[in-house]
Amino acid sequence: MVQSPSLVNPQSPFKIMKIYVTDQTGKEHELEGLEGWRVMEIIRDYGLPIKAECGGACCCATCHVYVDGAWQDKLFPPRDDEIDMLDEAPDLEDNSRLSCQIIMSEELDGLKLTLSESARP
Ligand code: FES
Repeated sequence: MVQSPSLVNPQSPFKIMKIYVTDQTGKEHELEGLEGWRVMEIIRDYGLPIKAECGGACCCATCHVYVDGAWQDKLFPPRDDEIDMLDEAPDLEDNSRLSCQIIMSEELDGLKLTLSESARP
């Protein structure tokens, strides 16, 4: 597992949470984020290979990830616009989500996901 230097201000009054992201080469990365941060932004800001062309506006599907089975029920169900966008992804699976639509919260501390090939820049 690769542990990158934290991008979170250690003085932050908010709880620092972890996410575990497996990249397209199979390498797992431990990343940190705060409540309210978009998972896509955490992945992008740590420099992992994610295109995220629309910047989180739910109109490109290039932030496509696969959510680990143990975490799927903890996420809010996708809205209609996310479902419509996911339909555009060439490598769609049952556990597919758009990472720009996943907002960090305490329940998601420890979230595990894998970057899709279609998210590769
Ligand atoms: S960044 Fe475009 S849909 Fe997520």
